[in-house]
Amino acid sequence: MSQISARTKPMPTPASSPVHATADPTQDRPYIWVNGELVPKSKAMVSVYDHGLLYGDGVFEGIRVYNGKIFKCGQHMDRLYRCAESLFLDIPVSREEMIDIQRQCIRANGITDGYIRLVVTRGVGTLGLNPYMCPEAGVICIADTITLYKPEMYEKGMRVVLANRPKTPIECLDPRVKSLNYLNNIMAKCEAIHLGRKLGIEKAEDQLLEVIMLNIHGEITEGSGDNIFIVKDGKAYTPPTDVGILEGITRRFVKDTLCPACGVPVEEKAFGLDELLGADEVFLTGSAAEMIAVREILRHDNLNLTSTHTITDGEGPITNALRSKFRQIVTSDDIPED
Ligand SMILES: Cc1ncc(COP(=O)(O)O)c(C=O)c1O
Repeated sequence: MSQISARTKPMPTPASSPVHATADPTQDRPYIWVNGELVPKSKAMVSVYDHGLLYGDGVFEGIRVYNGKIFKCGQHMDRLYRCAESLFLDIPVSREEMIDIQRQCIRANGITDGYIRLVVTRGVGTLGLNPYMCPEAGVICIADTITLYKPEMYEKGMRVVLANRPKTPIECLDPRVKSLNYLNNIMAKCEAIHLGRKLGIEKAEDQLLEVIMLNIHGEITEGSGDNIFIVKDGKAYTPPTDVGILEGITRRFVKDTLCPACGVPVEEKAFGLDELLGADEVFLTGSAAEMIAVREILRHDNLNLTSTHTITDGEGPITNALRSKFRQIVTSDDIPED
């Protein structure tokens, strides 16, 4: 049964989407699309009865803008609508309108290189869980800039923590669905930060930022907000989606475009901890993170450090070649919007 129905109300055109500026212009930016209106940041609000807030009921996308183009726009739209459908969530605007909303936000905020956060919430309902008490889904689009990791982390590679907490099994809540419910990932990330604090790492919340999560069968899945690749003997491997990962669009770009362009064989293959720790290189991919090397993996047991594994001293050569190719493509005049 398709849950995507015709939208229920006409979407405002750019001309009928007024921007209501505030008295304090520093609070205006960015202008944000909230349920049919482009409003200053200080006025961008949703109801406390929105089930996106009450229950984490909704879906989202994180999308890069390079040189004014919406990177891999088509794939992000496919994933957004597919994920919404899997949650029986009707998105009240068409795919074309959703793209138009993003372009309006980019234009209104003068973004050439930035990041779009698209959020579709279940909408305003009652205090009960019942999603069918929410007559219409909410649509939010934020076009802003983002810096996930410091530039030196890209040059030197990052330290990450192997999470104790396993990934939510597919049978419980499929990690392929990019839902507003990210607590499994957030709690894993907290492990890294708390371990860092316990180890006396200064500003651990800026230093130990990513985790690697195993599924309940001991297979490597992904990070809290990134997919993972390992490199062994010149070949790249990434876990298949059925281990329980988000089908990352950057992961696909690495697999289908960057690896072939750099002559790096690549394969989807499930692997465990031994293969991770024995890899020649490890790197993470995501729209916000782009591509970043992992140089060290910390293991712990209930926040007691058990071992530290050095993968590389800085960024490995294959990661570097792939990342250079990535930058070359996204800074060219020919940014793929497919
Ligand atoms: C859990 C998770 N895995 C992987 C990714 C990377 O996906 P993409 O490359 O589509 O941004 C994300 C991105 O938000 C994520 O949240």
